[in-house]
Amino acid sequence: MADAIDVTDFELQSLTQSILTRYGIDFTCYEPKSLKRRIIRVINNFELESVHNLWVKFLRDPKFVFTFMNEISVGMTSMFRDPILWKNIKSLLRNEFNQKANIDIWHAGCSTGEEVFTMGIVLKEVNLIHKVKAVATDFNQDAIATAQSGIYHKIKMIENENNYKQFNAFSDFAQYYTRESSDCKMDLSLTSHSKYSYQNLITDLPPSPGMFDIIFCRNVMIYFDSKAKENLLEKFYNALKPKGLFIIGFFDTMGHLNDSNKFNLINEEAKIFRKLE
Ligand SMILES: C[S@@+](CC[C@H](N)C(=O)[O-])C[C@H]1O[C@@H](n2cnc3c(N)ncnc32)[C@H](O)[C@@H]1O
Repeated sequence: MADAIDVTDFELQSLTQSILTRYGIDFTCYEPKSLKRRIIRVINNFELESVHNLWVKFLRDPKFVFTFMNEISVGMTSMFRDPILWKNIKSLLRNEFNQKANIDIWHAGCSTGEEVFTMGIVLKEVNLIHKVKAVATDFNQDAIATAQSGIYHKIKMIENENNYKQFNAFSDFAQYYTRESSDCKMDLSLTSHSKYSYQNLITDLPPSPGMFDIIFCRNVMIYFDSKAKENLLEKFYNALKPKGLFIIGFFDTMGHLNDSNKFNLINEEAKIFRKLE
């Protein structure tokens, strides 16, 4: 029976090590419990029945690794997720970024782009969007394609709209999209300052040092083990300008950040950190 499938620690290690050796893609540092759950889902979806058959599929179909990556990284996300964060971002932008000539932002692990549209709307509402350049990266190619299209199912838009109401009760979310049968198409001018690209946060080189005023990496590090998190935090620290803002997700733990002498927690409820000089 499909739901009786189990993935042992040994199978997980062999599989992730084989993927690393053959494709150079590193899942060895992912948190094992959730990775096992995701692998079982792939095995079920493709009716493969075992980890062995899954590996045979890798060997027979050279493109399967990309399908696997997309399946493993399916990202839960929504616009104005955690509305309190966006209220805080709005006031930080008004108070602190108003005087800047330009603002550079990195959305690391942007998934299907909801976070990028959210920031676009906030920037538009505080009249700073013309100053911003953003990069939005993920290693899920399907997710990036959705982000670029700006097309979301009307059911997803109900959640987005509800979140937006908590962020700004005095404005109408409908102004930011048009309805197209069962889908909604976002106003693409909200993200025209953003460049989407494929990037594996674990293995790919970080951007140039000191580039960004704000880095978002929300609900991505939850997938990684301690060592990988530490390495990634170092990358983010280097990529930020002095006093730059680093924003993590409500599901992310703050242990590493609190212990480090690199960041200051400036807003606990919104999980916003500032790079120390
Ligand atoms: C839960 S979503 C988070 C989306 C958004 N940041 C948010 O909080 O709403 C996690 C995203 O991290 C991406 N991800 C996971 N591991 C990654 C890696 N090694 N490199 C780049 N992106 C990764 C997944 O593809 C997925 O889109």
